[in-house]
Amino acid sequence: MSRIALVTGGTRGIGAAISVALKAAGRTVVASYAGNQIAAENFTAVHGIEAMRFDACDFGQCVAAVQSIASRLGPIEILVNNAGITRDGTMSRMTRDMWDAVIDTNLGSCFNLCKATFDGMKAAKFGRVVNIGSINGQAGQYGQVNYAAAKSGIHGFTKALAQEGAKFGITVNAIAPGYVDTDMVRAVPADVLEKIVARIPVGRLGHVEDIARGVVFLTADDADFVTGSTLSINGGQHMY
Ligand SMILES: NC(=O)c1ccc[n+]([C@@H]2O[C@H](COP(=O)([O-])OP(=O)(O)OC[C@H]3O[C@@H](n4cnc5c(N)ncnc54)[C@H](OP(=O)(O)O)[C@@H]3O)[C@@H](O)[C@H]2O)c1
Repeated sequence: MSRIALVTGGTRGIGAAISVALKAAGRTVVASYAGNQIAAENFTAVHGIEAMRFDACDFGQCVAAVQSIASRLGPIEILVNNAGITRDGTMSRMTRDMWDAVIDTNLGSCFNLCKATFDGMKAAKFGRVVNIGSINGQAGQYGQVNYAAAKSGIHGFTKALAQEGAKFGITVNAIAPGYVDTDMVRAVPADVLEKIVARIPVGRLGHVEDIARGVVFLTADDADFVTGSTLSINGGQHMY
């Protein structure tokens, strides 16, 4: 039977490519989103993948979503924590709200959805969790103390949970993308982006499919010896 996969933020950008690649790999995929209904409806129409609206920052909504998927389709065995936002600013300009929003969305959502699915994976003696971190969680980035802290936290979270999951057939890994051509990166001013691309040894931004390929690898049934790792997919920009 086809394994059930949930991809948070799975209707746009990197998440959409992950959802499509997991479907192509034979998984039954549910893609979550926060509020961009038009993008979600378009995504479902084009790819035939269910889109489900809930706030990944809200623990109660996460639990309800996981229960709804389990009752309709079966228990979630593959979880991709991809939902993320940026609220950039130097320390002088960063507000407490910008800090909270980024920590809650990028890191709190990983806790919420792992908490809601992990016992089910333990009972099934199978699970695949992939958390999407960032090169900026590895190397830091000017004006991103919130985002760098959240993404760096993901890498520690991954290694800790991997130790808990190992004896239950659950792998927990992270991917640290470099700069990928999505709405998030298109929001960066052109002159700044030009300087970023100049520092990428392969000479281009990443494609969303570059990241999706890593998720398919890490969630394969026979990838059971790969756990607690961070896969950097960044065109050689940061060799960690
Ligand atoms: N793009 C890059 O270069 C890059 C580099 C390194 C890491 N990353 C990471 O990769 C992931 C995807 O990035 P992206 O560039 O593809 O982002 P994106 O195009 O901005 O898409 C973000 C997705 O996350 C969803 N989302 C945001 N907040 C949410 C919430 N509270 N609850 C549920 N879903 C939520 C959005 O839903 P709506 O569609 O409803 O808004 C959207 O589907 C993020 O974790 C990001 O930090 C990206």
